[in-house]
Amino acid sequence: MSEYVVDESTIFETPLVELDLGVESDADVYAKVEWFNLHDAPHGGGSIKSRIAKGMLDGAEERGELEPGVTVIEPTSGNTGSEVARLAAARGYDVEIVMPDNAAGGKVDAVRDAGAEIHFVDANLGYDAVIERCEEIIAADPEAYFRPNQYENPDNPGTHERTTAREIYDATDGDVTRFVAGVGTGGTISGTGRGLTDLSDGAVEVVGFEPDERLHAIDGLKYLKTGDHYHPETYDESVLDRTAYVTTSDAYDSARALRERYSDDPVPIADPGQHDEATVRDHLRVDDQFVVGTSAGGGAAAVANLDAAGDLADDDVVVFMLCDRGDKYADIPLWEDYL
Ligand SMILES: Cc1ncc(COP(=O)(O)O)c(C=O)c1O
Repeated sequence: MSEYVVDESTIFETPLVELDLGVESDADVYAKVEWFNLHDAPHGGGSIKSRIAKGMLDGAEERGELEPGVTVIEPTSGNTGSEVARLAAARGYDVEIVMPDNAAGGKVDAVRDAGAEIHFVDANLGYDAVIERCEEIIAADPEAYFRPNQYENPDNPGTHERTTAREIYDATDGDVTRFVAGVGTGGTISGTGRGLTDLSDGAVEVVGFEPDERLHAIDGLKYLKTGDHYHPETYDESVLDRTAYVTTSDAYDSARALRERYSDDPVPIADPGQHDEATVRDHLRVDDQFVVGTSAGGGAAAVANLDAAGDLADDDVVVFMLCDRGDKYADIPLWEDYL
């Protein structure tokens, strides 16, 4: 039995902060701080993927698809890998993770800490090659493996529909008018979007954003704009009211602008979620800086782009996701000068 321990009770009910993105409109802009999932874990805490790692493992155990002795395997650019590895290892399973060889150092370290085996795939081959490599490993011994499969598993969007949507709706007292999230598996935007559409009787506009460039560096997001790509089953585009495109440089600039904006001022906590305010303040910053991950910067850029296009009304209440914290990216150009 593994010695590895995680506190799953810290997953879900993450804090909501109010952010000043310097937009023209008087809209209220909030963000959900997803590294409070497993916030005590090393290497930047958990992420938005802690939610679905829990949802997919719980679902598989309940249905009897995952039993002792089976190895959990997942292809991932990092966050799902670290979160599946952490939770599955703590539940006593062996874990193998297939990752591109340019995955952020903090995510690789988190997978290693959990004792998981890592299969690296040449990042130049593109993300579909990571998925293919995982399928080859399973094909060699299908009985030995359980693959949560975040790209097809209904528990991925299902977890967001049950948890993320309700949390956002409640934390904004039902006032949310727009929800903005990036597309990797599409689980966040499809599940949360569907939940918010139901809770608000269709009043919430659901905005998904994708990387604008094929060779982008917005972690966790999938380029789908042109060409022949694997389209995740978990990405239900019918839930979206609009699709936006964000460049890597806009995502990084927006992340840096947030760090600047909150270099002296505290980040206003709108709702601490399941945590007390002191814990939230403690874990919001790294080395006293407000540094977010690349897709969080992408979310801020997507909101700023809506404003620049004149599409944000003064009475809008916008929510986007801070999917993970910036210290996972201490070794890439986004934060290497600061961390
Ligand atoms: C940091 C980060 N942001 C955003 C996403 C995209 O979320 P989803 O897969 O739910 O579309 C991911 C997915 O891996 C991620 O790791």
